[in-house]
Amino acid sequence: MVGDDTWASLADQFAEGAYTSVKGRVRTYVMHEQLLEHLPSPPGPVLDVGGGAGHQSFPLARAGYDVTLLDPSPAMLDKAHQRLQRLPSGAQRRVTLLEADGDNADEAVKHQRFAAVLCHGVLGYRGRPEPLVSQLCRCTDAGGVVSIMAGNAQAMAVRPALERRWDDALAAFDARDEIGVLGVPTRADTVEELSELLRSNGVEPLRWYGVWLFVDWLEFGGAELDPGDSQQVAAAAAVELEASRRDPYRQLSRVFHLVGRKTPS
Ligand SMILES: C[S@@+](CC[C@H](N)C(=O)[O-])C[C@H]1O[C@@H](n2cnc3c(N)ncnc32)[C@H](O)[C@@H]1O
Repeated sequence: MVGDDTWASLADQFAEGAYTSVKGRVRTYVMHEQLLEHLPSPPGPVLDVGGGAGHQSFPLARAGYDVTLLDPSPAMLDKAHQRLQRLPSGAQRRVTLLEADGDNADEAVKHQRFAAVLCHGVLGYRGRPEPLVSQLCRCTDAGGVVSIMAGNAQAMAVRPALERRWDDALAAFDARDEIGVLGVPTRADTVEELSELLRSNGVEPLRWYGVWLFVDWLEFGGAELDPGDSQQVAAAAAVELEASRRDPYRQLSRVFHLVGRKTPS
């Protein structure tokens, strides 16, 4: 599966491409709102495993949380470092960048326990979810929150169908793997399987959400969405947030956000 070198070649595309699109903005907004429903009051602390360039955890630092961003890729950490300089100085002081593999997270953070542990868009690049999920749960304090964003194995036909790749769409109904939007192999999970995995690591699933739906479909369908039109972006984000909480919309989102709480000891 994907290692550090691959992320070195993807860092620009991811940090400056994906996140400047309407989809990127919607994703950050929707996930932030969903997270705030479960996080304790600042300062946390919060651990972001595979945090990349900090798009999801830097807004938390701005909101007063102490954030440790852990990532094995020097290229992604470099992006995070550059983006960090643009934060107000108070928020900058609340962020620690740590180069480490998520499979060694507990050791890398010297066995610190966190009020929240995030892992967004990382599991899909791992051959299997168990080792990383076990580390996420271990690093979470009793009563703390685990937040995972992963590809939705129940919605694998959506993208090829919208791209009118009908043979691929037909084959995708029962597929688990695809070449993701960044051009590298990715693996999808189900809410049910990850929920069970959390439970077996002492974390009780609380709620799950979709992430984006309509803007994703529009983009794959060929519509051009203008990230500079802030009114439209805000209006779309409000619709997506509502869809992310409800059936049947959330079930069709190509990625899901699962939040659990570690059993208080
Ligand atoms: C798609 S990016 C997601 C970044 C960030 N979580 C976000 O949501 O913006 C995937 C990230 O996973 C990281 N990654 C890959 N393998 C990892 C591993 N074994 N442990 C921790 N992070 C890993 C990559 O370096 C990259 O930064």
